[in-house]
Amino acid sequence: MKKIAIAIDGPAAAGKSTIAKLVAQKLNYIYIDTGAMYRSLTLQVIREQIDFHDEGKIVSLLNDLDIELNQNFEVFINKQNITEEIRANDVTNHVSKIASIPAVRDEMVKRQQNLAADRGVVMDGRDIGTRVIPDAEVKIFLIASVEERATRRHDENRKKGIPTDLEKLKKEIENRDRMDSERASSPLKKADDAIEIDTTSLSIEGVLQRILSIVDQEV
Ligand code: DC
Repeated sequence: MKKIAIAIDGPAAAGKSTIAKLVAQKLNYIYIDTGAMYRSLTLQVIREQIDFHDEGKIVSLLNDLDIELNQNFEVFINKQNITEEIRANDVTNHVSKIASIPAVRDEMVKRQQNLAADRGVVMDGRDIGTRVIPDAEVKIFLIASVEERATRRHDENRKKGIPTDLEKLKKEIENRDRMDSERASSPLKKADDAIEIDTTSLSIEGVLQRILSIVDQEV
């Protein structure tokens, strides 16, 4: 069976990574969480106390930063496991700023394109269908209402024992959507040839089946 590239884009907390992991498992493809790459750099910027506006320093930090994603969904920088740390609020609230730096995006996109070169890949992010793999055989754009996305994050946090405030989560998600959509360098945007799926009232299984049937027509 032909191995293809599947691009899954959409706004924050729309369920991209949950779905992308399941699609990858089902097809025995590799899964690349590109948000985790931007989060990894953000974590290192925070750790080294680099000014968020010092683009030169941030880019040179990235050039020396080894970011690795394995197939157990773990993330490493310079061989250190930082899977949990990159989900911290401090990282979440600063990552859009780091991801808006054009030279950071150029380098990340190059790394992501290398990872996708052999196909057999499910990649999720904001610009996968528009910039990273514009020739992906399947492009999905996942959306859900802000209320639904905030509620899902809230439930996730509660299950993990992390205290959260629903209204605050809603504001943070809206803020991140705005920054990701309004930035000049490859903003969050549905590719013309992407298929939009609104997951607001769909189950995970429902979304998975829709994507698998779209993939079926391509392989
Ligand atoms: O999907 P996520 O929440 O882990 O993404 C973290 C941030 O990284 C998000 O605010 C936007 C940015 N991002 C991006 O600009 N381009 C991507 N391909 C993936 C993520």
